[in-house]
Amino acid sequence: MSAAERTGSDREVMLSVENITLSFGAVRAIRDVSFDILKGEIRAIIGPNGAGKTSMLNVINGFYHPQQGQILFRGAVRRQMRPHEAAAGGIARTFQNVALFKGMTTLDNIMTGRNLKMKSWRTSLLPAMIYYGPTQREEIANREHVERVIDFLEIEAIRKVPVGRLPYGLQKRVELGRALAAEPDLLLLDEPMAGMNLEEKQDMCRFVLDVNDEFGTTIALIEHDMGVVMDLSDRVVVLDHGEKIADGTPDEVKNDQNVIDAYLGVSH
Ligand SMILES: Nc1ncnc2c1ncn2[C@@H]1O[C@H](COP(=O)(O)OP(=O)(O)OP(=O)(O)O)[C@@H](O)[C@H]1O
Ligand SMILES: [Mg+2]
Repeated sequence: MSAAERTGSDREVMLSVENITLSFGAVRAIRDVSFDILKGEIRAIIGPNGAGKTSMLNVINGFYHPQQGQILFRGAVRRQMRPHEAAAGGIARTFQNVALFKGMTTLDNIMTGRNLKMKSWRTSLLPAMIYYGPTQREEIANREHVERVIDFLEIEAIRKVPVGRLPYGLQKRVELGRALAAEPDLLLLDEPMAGMNLEEKQDMCRFVLDVNDEFGTTIALIEHDMGVVMDLSDRVVVLDHGEKIADGTPDEVKNDQNVIDAYLGVSH
């Protein structure tokens, strides 16, 4: 299916970012930014260093609370959502710097992503703090799903290896696995290919496309490599100094004068 068909106007909006402003003291990281993410699309968020891209993902998954604006996820306002609520609600993410438990195996790291989905785990977050543990049926279903993820990402050979011993490219793949273990509807990827060699990059591109195709997962992708952005994304939003400066198809933003100026460091 072409990107144009995939992003036809009849597509359901999965997430709306509405007039978000986020400051850290005097630093205005995001200024009045709005855009939407359609169900099933790969939406790239690009911009120079310090543009506010990671901050935006942190707002979307509830890690930061904006001073102004709101996030609508599947039509419902999520202004003060917390990260574990975002995860249980179907939003998963990976981090700009690998954030795995280095001493734990690949399998156990991916299982931690699965725990966010477990009913009884959610029970344990109730005020009573009673932890019943998963039922046997839940446990089997969780294991089966985690094995599917391991199979899908072709990491069977490293399932028992502590992730701290793995090369960087594989650690990033395990981190993707941990996010996928939660069966997210919306997957937030913060520079999943940064620091990778060409072969690792090509593998990661293939996995991102396959996740989108095979599971229908909606993806927001921060990426600096413009070739990757052009190849993978349906639509691109461009941030610069916390402001949205362009929004459109990869071809549209590539030829946008504001975008060209921002990357050349021309101030407005
Ligand atoms: N926790 C924080 N406390 C203070 N300032 C912050 C914090 N997080 C981000 N910032 C500032 O907000 C601005 C945007 O940062 P952010 O990390 O979102 O940019 P980015 O587009 O992801 O950049 P990069 O491409 O380098 O990852 C920067 O000026 C940064 O210094
Ligand atoms: Mg960043």
